[in-house]
Amino acid sequence: MTNISDIMNSVKKTMEAEELAGVKELIIDREKMTKNKPTKKNITLPELKEKVSACRRCSLAETNTNYVFGDGNPKADLMFIGEAPGREEDKQGLPFVGRAGKLLTMIIEAIGLKREDVFIGNILKCRPPDNRNPLPDEIAMCSPYLIKQVELIKPKVIFALGKFAAQTLLNTETPISKLRGKFYDYQGIKLMPTYHPAYLLRNPGAKKDVWIDMQVVAKELGLKVPRHKKQP
Ligand code: URA
Repeated sequence: MTNISDIMNSVKKTMEAEELAGVKELIIDREKMTKNKPTKKNITLPELKEKVSACRRCSLAETNTNYVFGDGNPKADLMFIGEAPGREEDKQGLPFVGRAGKLLTMIIEAIGLKREDVFIGNILKCRPPDNRNPLPDEIAMCSPYLIKQVELIKPKVIFALGKFAAQTLLNTETPISKLRGKFYDYQGIKLMPTYHPAYLLRNPGAKKDVWIDMQVVAKELGLKVPRHKKQP
């Protein structure tokens, strides 16, 4: 049942997302509405990072050690989006630096790129306790930051790692096994869903699928995959 606090929370969320998207004023004058387009505030990526590091929008801010904004080339053609920081990422304040991250680095290098060439981010900027799955409310609170990051970086291709990244960005509940391997449109950007590297550590047999997906992405970006490279 919807109560007043649900409604207030929803209004607050919408206003915060709009503020992040650059809508400066709430226009309530009907005449003005047609004349005054919302003004876009040109927030920069470093400013957005500052904003994230002061975020108190959900309870994960009370348990995190560091915010993990994301890292890499701010003008990257290729952006990787994962789920949420784990223990090592929380400790270092950097994305994908644990075991799954090492595998991700191998995948990136297998197509002839370096981590510094791409941008790596996550749906959540804070670690969920005990690495539990992100909660719907946490995703709702945090995803405006990611949406703005994508808008500022303007990658040509997004590689969405795992179900939380793919389902959130594509607004679907279709399982990742069905989504993977095809390009989808995300705000005019090609988005390729694939399995999460942590899943690959538990299911090495799925690495070949990710390698197939990665090669499709490399081709789209006009990258020449080094011949000697085998599936990571
Ligand atoms: N898993 C993720 O989804 N993101 C990280 O940054 C690390 C592990």
